[in-house]
Formats: sequence, C-alpha cells, structure tokens
Amino acid sequence: MHSFGYRLNALLTFSVTILALMCAMASFSDNLNTPSPSVEIQIVNINWFQKQPRGNDEVSLTMNISADLQSLFTWNTKQVFVFVAAEYETPKNSLNQVSLWDAIIPAKEHAKFWMHTSNKYRFVDQGNNLRGKEFNLTLHWHVMPKTGKMFADKIVMSGYQLPEEYR
Ligand SMILES: *[C@@H]1O[C@H](CO)[C@@H](O)[C@H](O)[C@H]1NC(C)=O
Ligand SMILES: *[C@@H]1O[C@H](CO)[C@@H](O)[C@H](O)[C@H]1NC(C)=O
Repeated sequence: MHSFGYRLNALLTFSVTILALMCAMASFSDNLNTPSPSVEIQIVNINWFQKQPRGNDEVSLTMNISADLQSLFTWNTKQVFVFVAAEYETPKNSLNQVSLWDAIIPAKEHAKFWMHTSNKYRFVDQGNNLRGKEFNLTLHWHVMPKTGKMFADKIVMSGYQLPEEYR
C-alpha cells in the first residue's frame, strides 16, 4: 500500500518536472524569437565644428533618431539599453568609437519612437582628423532579460560625412 507521503512525493516530482520543462520551453521559444529592429538616423544639423585649444577636433550635431525596437521585447525582457556611436577610421586607429547618445528603454510601449536630439556626449576626436571625415553611425543594444543571459547586437549605418571646414 502506498502511503499518502509517497503519493505526495510523486505528485511533487511530477510538478517539478513539468515546471522545468515549461521553463526550458519558454527560454527556448525566447531564443527562437529573431528580432528585427529598425533604425534610421538623420543628421539634421551641424551645430558647430571646431578645433579645441588643445588641438582636438570637436563637433556638435543634431540628429533625428527614429527607431522601432519593439521586436527586442519578449515576455522575458527586463529592459533594453541602447546607444548610438559614431565610428570612423584614422591613421592612428582602425576603429574610433565615440558614444553620442544612450537610453534605457523600460518597456515595449516605449520601444518605437523618434526624437530630435543633439549629441548627449561630446564628439571629440583624439587629434584633428574630423574635417571631411566619413563615418558610420551604429545603434548598439543590450537586451537585459529577466532570466537567462544578456545579448547584444547592433545596426550599422554608413555614408555620413562631416563638413570639410570648421564652422
Ligand atoms: C524624424 O524622422 C521621422 C522618421 O523618419 C519623421 O517621421 C519625423 O518627422 C522626423 N522629425 C523631424 C523633426 O525631422
Ligand atoms: C562602416 O560601415 C561599412 C559598411 O558596413 C564598413 O565596411 C566599414 O568598415 C565601417 N567603418 C568603420 C570605421 O567601422
């Protein structure tokens, strides 16, 4: 005769197994979700462009950032950190990366937006390489999940160029 305790134990084991299976399926389905975020950034204005007294070029620009990052959000997403960086090559460095703007997107409802903003962080070169410089703007994102591991990716937009002259 099986005791009540034995049956309770069997039931518990069964529930825990189902729960584990559901968790595995859920995180699997989360991985199956292939996000397709989109972004477009226009340089609306070059506010000013100068050589600093110390000799480094600095530019201030206004961007129109429009993005739809809703597909990055799943049931398992806590928040998404995004940043926009200018990336360009100089004789000294094959990759210069300057962060211009960032944000934390707390929920899917806020993941589709456009905004007019000047660079939040200074766009300063380590030298005076910026006149006429071609550069890329990249949108990087870090998806912070409720459980499981963080993942990051980016979209690269090329074809931007700074003016030939200081202004
Ligand atoms: C910014 O870009 C979005 C999408 O391209 C557009 O709808 C919006 O009107 C633009 N805003 C400004 C101020 O240019
Ligand atoms: C800019 O983007 C183009 C096209 O994706 C790529 O070939 C190039 O290496 C990028 N430049 C930098 C400095 O990352």
